[in-house]
Amino acid sequence: MSSLRAVKMMPLGYRILPTSTLPRVVRQFSSTPARSYEYLLTSKPKPGVGQVQLNRPKALNALCTPLISELNEALKQFNSADDVSVIIVTGSEKAFAAGADIKEMAPLTFSEAYTKSFIESWSDLTTQVKKPILAAVSGHALGGGCELAMMCDILYCTETANFGQPEVKLGTIPGAGGSQRLTRAIGKSKAMELILTGKSFSGADAEKWGLAAKAFPSYEALMEGVTKTAETIAGYSKVAIIGAKEVVNKSQDLGLRDGVEYERRVFHSIFGSQDQKIGMKAFAEKRKPEWTHQ
Ligand code: CAA
Repeated sequence: MSSLRAVKMMPLGYRILPTSTLPRVVRQFSSTPARSYEYLLTSKPKPGVGQVQLNRPKALNALCTPLISELNEALKQFNSADDVSVIIVTGSEKAFAAGADIKEMAPLTFSEAYTKSFIESWSDLTTQVKKPILAAVSGHALGGGCELAMMCDILYCTETANFGQPEVKLGTIPGAGGSQRLTRAIGKSKAMELILTGKSFSGADAEKWGLAAKAFPSYEALMEGVTKTAETIAGYSKVAIIGAKEVVNKSQDLGLRDGVEYERRVFHSIFGSQDQKIGMKAFAEKRKPEWTHQ
């Protein structure tokens, strides 16, 4: 599809307009000109919030290699943008992502996959992006789609979202962290059952089992809810939210004693920030802090 046709078909909220045509209040938060992507739509729906929407509707957002490289690039741009504090990753109402691209993977040989480190760059999201990433999942989140959602820092979904690790049905296993992240999130027995049977589970179950922070009754409620949470986070000091993300994620890798020690080191270092002084002084003076993000 031509990029012009793609723009015409986008819902208004997602159209990328020339910055000069935007109202002043929007321009203020759009300092970097939006780059256009083949498989993504990017926007800044609220001050401090960057949004990446996977946009490969014909293949239910299957995660082909070019889509993943665009995603990495968009995330890198938001990660370095001064006017963005938090990032939303979402798909469409019908599909967050239906997995890695099966047609691309089918002919791969072991030596190609191994020597080219197939799928390794998917982890850029977890290793390169310091700002919090919120996943908003509606529709299918299968295989790599489920894994991508689990790589994000907070997972929101609709109650009817369709999660699963169905790789076993294709004669393979999860390859982008599914066996590790799902197991840590919901426990070994349930994760093992889901991975060995390839059975799907709903967003309502994802919330009940603690994989999702919240499941919403509709797509509209999901997008409203995720944007509201992103806005709340973006209202705090960047130094604090990046530090908080770092220490929570460390809990996934370290034992309790090392994790607590790590947290304390980061906590101590934050006394060196301006915003720690600003936040605590504002509390004592009963006024709202004005963050410098320094
Ligand atoms: N890769 C490539 N193309 C895909 C795809 C995928 N993962 N999922 C869907 N598509 C394509 C279909 O081939 C179809 O394309 P055509 O119209 O050209 O035939 C189009 O998207 C629409 O799909 P369906 O017609 O199948 O739509 P549906 O509504 O009947 O079914 C579905 C939806 C249940 C999600 C089904 O498409 C499906 O089962 N998809 C595969 C899900 C899957 O197995 N994911 C795991 C992939 S392996 C993986 O991710 C490994 C890893 O760990 C990294």
